Amino acid sequence: MTRRVAVVGGGSSGLACIKCCLDEGLEPVCFESSDDIGGLWRFKENPEPDRASIYHSVIINTSKEMMCFSDFPIPAHFPNFMHNTLIMDYFRMYADHFQLTKHIRFNTKVLLVKQRSDFSHSGQWDVEIEKDGKKEKHIFDAVMICIGHHCHPNLPLHDFPGIETFTGKYFHSRDYKTPEEWRDKKAVVIGIGNSGGDIAVELSRVTKQLYLSTRRGAWILNRVGDNGVPLDLLFNRVVNCMETVLPFSVFCGLGESRLNQRFDHGLYNLKPKHRLFSQHPTVNDELPNRILSGTVQVKPNIRRFQGSSVEFDDGSVVEDVDLVVFATGYRFSFPFLASHVVSVSENKASLYKYVFPPELDRPTLAIIGLVQPLGAIMPISEMQARWATRVFKGCVKLPSVAAMQKDIQCKNETMAKRYVTSQRHTIQVDYISYMDEIAKLVGVQPNIPRMLLTDPRLGLNVVFGPCTPYQYRLRGPGKVGWGPSGHPHSVGESGSAHADQAL
Ligand SMILES: Cc1cc2nc3c(=O)[nH]c(=O)nc-3n(C[C@H](O)[C@H](O)[C@H](O)COP(=O)(O)OP(=O)(O)OC[C@H]3O[C@@H](n4cnc5c(N)ncnc54)[C@H](O)[C@@H]3O)c2cc1C
Ligand SMILES: NC(=O)c1ccc[n+]([C@@H]2O[C@H](COP(=O)([O-])OP(=O)(O)OC[C@H]3O[C@@H](n4cnc5c(N)ncnc54)[C@H](OP(=O)(O)O)[C@@H]3O)[C@@H](O)[C@H]2O)c1
Repeated sequence: MTRRVAVVGGGSSGLACIKCCLDEGLEPVCFESSDDIGGLWRFKENPEPDRASIYHSVIINTSKEMMCFSDFPIPAHFPNFMHNTLIMDYFRMYADHFQLTKHIRFNTKVLLVKQRSDFSHSGQWDVEIEKDGKKEKHIFDAVMICIGHHCHPNLPLHDFPGIETFTGKYFHSRDYKTPEEWRDKKAVVIGIGNSGGDIAVELSRVTKQLYLSTRRGAWILNRVGDNGVPLDLLFNRVVNCMETVLPFSVFCGLGESRLNQRFDHGLYNLKPKHRLFSQHPTVNDELPNRILSGTVQVKPNIRRFQGSSVEFDDGSVVEDVDLVVFATGYRFSFPFLASHVVSVSENKASLYKYVFPPELDRPTLAIIGLVQPLGAIMPISEMQARWATRVFKGCVKLPSVAAMQKDIQCKNETMAKRYVTSQRHTIQVDYISYMDEIAKLVGVQPNIPRMLLTDPRLGLNVVFGPCTPYQYRLRGPGKVGWGPSGHPHSVGESGSAHADQAL
């Protein structure tokens, strides 16, 4: 009998899950609480509760060859770094091509995902949903949770004494849409993650003055790398290997000196105490320009608010502030799951390779997309989905509970050692290392020594070229052949529903 899989969420992770279920001969039913696909990438004028919300100008900071699904390249005429509208176009093409939308039940919210009483031998789940105010219960053999982790704002008002006296307007970055309203006003942006950087740059084009407040500074990377090539294309297997071989401080030092050649982070008030790879990267090509032109002034942390004035840790005070944007990140949770299944505390969840709760009797629940990669999330979600669906089918086994817990602990320790302690550094992964780790479990990691012998040109490209998601379609289940037009067609070992279907 075909096993039914509930996919919760129809964003990019949910779409990849539906596709992988179909490839493995499973029957997906996706529940999406909104009326469309795309999740975070679908811009809405008004933020909606419990759903991600982006500003109008968001351009992705991962390049198209590095962010696409592994068997569906982004059209050649799309730019390297796409505006959110083009990303939506791509997701629609993916959904149309693989006929994914017919498996989605829109305007349907998942309220509860609960183990059935016979779970220890059936592995089944009761899924309670709500549509048009009516509740229904369904039984599923497995569940994939793809609800994203940029929905619930982290608004740490308690860290900002006097905020209750502030006479201007303040809101979280998820509520920021466009800069127009703030023309000729004074604004402060708190936080130097990618939201803080983007919003500070955009606001500074219209404001009288923009202050960017950061409690520890940041190393600023660019989208545009050497010779005008997208920077993420340069992080190949050789660089990844250097990272594992060289001492951490040497590897960081090499990167930092390159970044300082572009602009000295000390001179720009941005130099952090921590090392380059100890913080989630902030990518911003324009920030140094804005700082150099004085439209953005970098400030330390805020000491206190008083009326319309803001005092910073260095004692400087800015009067008549009209707007404060808290670009202070996000919190995630799984409100429809019992805490004994997955518990989250301060953005920490105990999951085997960030996917499987280790202590379930049966491995029939997977969390997909709960990672913050140095790289793009989409191919990672896809790889996780390929793994999870193989596990659901019984083709791939999970190790013992003790082994999974040891792996979780080891990952936590490595992360704590490398990263600055912060709520934003709890699910960090390096793109190549993590992709390889999961690919090995699925049986799709490129066999480089063999490739160098049988097809040296391809082998050299895999080693020295960009580590694109296509590298994980060269062998094993879900292998695709590349047609004369450069388009993939499936020749995989699994029961692909799309076998031999040329694009
Ligand atoms: C401003 C911004 C820029 C970003 N830029 C990049 C980038 O450059 N590169 C990158 O890789 N990542 C980026 N990200 C990360 C981003 O989260 C991922 O790119 C991606 O959107 C994650 O997709 P997802 O499907 O996992 O989650 P989402 O896109 O958040 O989709 C989750 C879906 O689940 C649905 N849902 C939630 N709860 C329920 C429920 N109970 N029942 C039914 N449906 C539910 C929601 O309606 C939504 O459609 C960015 C994040 C932000 C905030
Ligand atoms: N263009 C793009 O592609 C784009 C744009 C926006 C976001 N994104 C992605 O979206 C995700 C979320 O990014 P984000 O920038 O919204 O959040 P984030 O990466 O979590 O950054 C939050 C920032 O707020 C600071 N902060 C948090 N709490 C604070 C406090 N109490 N006091 C002072 N500062 C505080 C953090 O400082 P500490 O480091 O000190 O904790 C950090 O600088 C990331 O994966 C990011 O890459 C991508």
